[in-house]
Amino acid sequence: MEFNVKHGALETIKTGCLVVGINEARTLTGTAASLDGICGGQISAAVKRGDITGKSGQSLMLFALPGISAQRVLLVGTGKNAEMSDRDFRKLAQKVVATLKNGGATDAVLALTALPVKNRDLYSRTRLLVETVRESLYQFDQFKSKKADKPRLKKCTLWSADKADAEALKRAILHGQAISDGTDLTRDLGNLPGNVCTPTYLAKEAKALAKQFKGIEAEVLEEKDMKALGMGSLLAVSAGSAEPAKLIRLSYQGTDAKAKPHVLVGKGITFDTGGISIKPGASMDEMKYDMCGAATVLGVFKAIVSLQLPINLTVLIASAENMPSGTAAKPGDIVTSMSGQTIEILNTDAEGRLVLCDALTYAERFNPASVVDIATLTGACIVALGSHTTGVMGNNDELIEKLLDAGKQADDRGWQLPLFDEYQEQLDSPFADIANIGGPKAGTITAACFLSRFTKAYPWAHLDIAGTAWISGGKEKGATGRPVPLLTQYLLNQVQG
Ligand code: BES
Ligand code: MN
Ligand code: ZN
Repeated sequence: MEFNVKHGALETIKTGCLVVGINEARTLTGTAASLDGICGGQISAAVKRGDITGKSGQSLMLFALPGISAQRVLLVGTGKNAEMSDRDFRKLAQKVVATLKNGGATDAVLALTALPVKNRDLYSRTRLLVETVRESLYQFDQFKSKKADKPRLKKCTLWSADKADAEALKRAILHGQAISDGTDLTRDLGNLPGNVCTPTYLAKEAKALAKQFKGIEAEVLEEKDMKALGMGSLLAVSAGSAEPAKLIRLSYQGTDAKAKPHVLVGKGITFDTGGISIKPGASMDEMKYDMCGAATVLGVFKAIVSLQLPINLTVLIASAENMPSGTAAKPGDIVTSMSGQTIEILNTDAEGRLVLCDALTYAERFNPASVVDIATLTGACIVALGSHTTGVMGNNDELIEKLLDAGKQADDRGWQLPLFDEYQEQLDSPFADIANIGGPKAGTITAACFLSRFTKAYPWAHLDIAGTAWISGGKEKGATGRPVPLLTQYLLNQVQG
């Protein structure tokens, strides 16, 4: 989708469809009111007839209004509150796309950027609009012999009365498009089946991404390299699989080589059967999404590099397939991690932390400003927070605060769970330094406690995205691309102060 900016007299703009907000108050205000005056009261007449009341979620298409150059005018309800919530605003944008996607118009002019949205300025509500439009247009039909229709709507023009708005609107489009491109990549990778998206596939994909831009360093560690580094924990996860594990790194230098990089680490389990501690059959197909942390860091990387943000960014992906077999790790096995700490694997289904811990130790060598890992780590996180909110934990309150703030700004929210010392004892093992599970209580927290044993050298935060990375079951099933907006915002904020 192409977005651009326009100002000037709205009634003279030639377009397939002009989209205008209309609130629930009886008297028209703003853009709707001025258009109503021009077209001889046709809009207020529609309201009077009861064709539209302005309720949130409503819409009405009007054709060939006198005095207005647009072929159609789409009225969309903005509700009765003076300010819309993020959720209402997104619903409005979704409604616009649903109406126009395969309608008659191939372009639209959206006169929506002046609509008041709670706690959002022109830039941030416009960006939300751009991202929501893009999100609603996403399709994944790679594996369908009969492809879905391409949307007829090809171009959206964001209209504002004031020419001075142009700069903020253009920045919102630039950032919104970059975030959406990243999110689309993350969704595509997440939606790929496990027989296609293997660790080897992710490594190829990362290398291809590195080639798209100048000055990106790509590195793929093979199993023999990981063995030499002492990554016994990560390798225990791939031991049962025919697919070799990969540790993938991409580094982007956007500023002074001496500036410490921000490091993101993604869990890349391309399929999680549970291993010998095998999962039950129901919905097991959804464990193809267990690489959404990896897909997220690639999406964020793409967004940041395409914006040429003046920061240094390194992303790491710990990728393996978790399978049961004669060579698989067994409950009770003890392995030695790269950090030297020994781990008793009491449950082979707690494999995410086993691959992440070695990648987190490896991250030390990049002298990171901070490290954030992103992982579909625990079913317990879905129990605690459902599918709307990412679990946030870590060893540095300032970093956690920044991530929570970025989540609010990007409407991709997280919520902090405590990492109090008391929980650490749940990981005690009689035989090794640490066990890989902490019992039935506070599973999300004890998983983070496990990771915390490997992240003492730098400020670290952990995002548990088990609930937010994909929509489960049903017709809407699929990867969401979260938390690409949260993380991209976090990195944008590093530059903007
Ligand atoms: N990938 C799963 C977590 C998961 C489960 C994500 C369901 C999304 C939906 C992870 O590897 C796992 O299996 N975790 C176990 C940990 C347990 C064995 C301590 C879990 O959550 O059951
Ligand atoms: Mn598992
Ligand atoms: Zn897993």
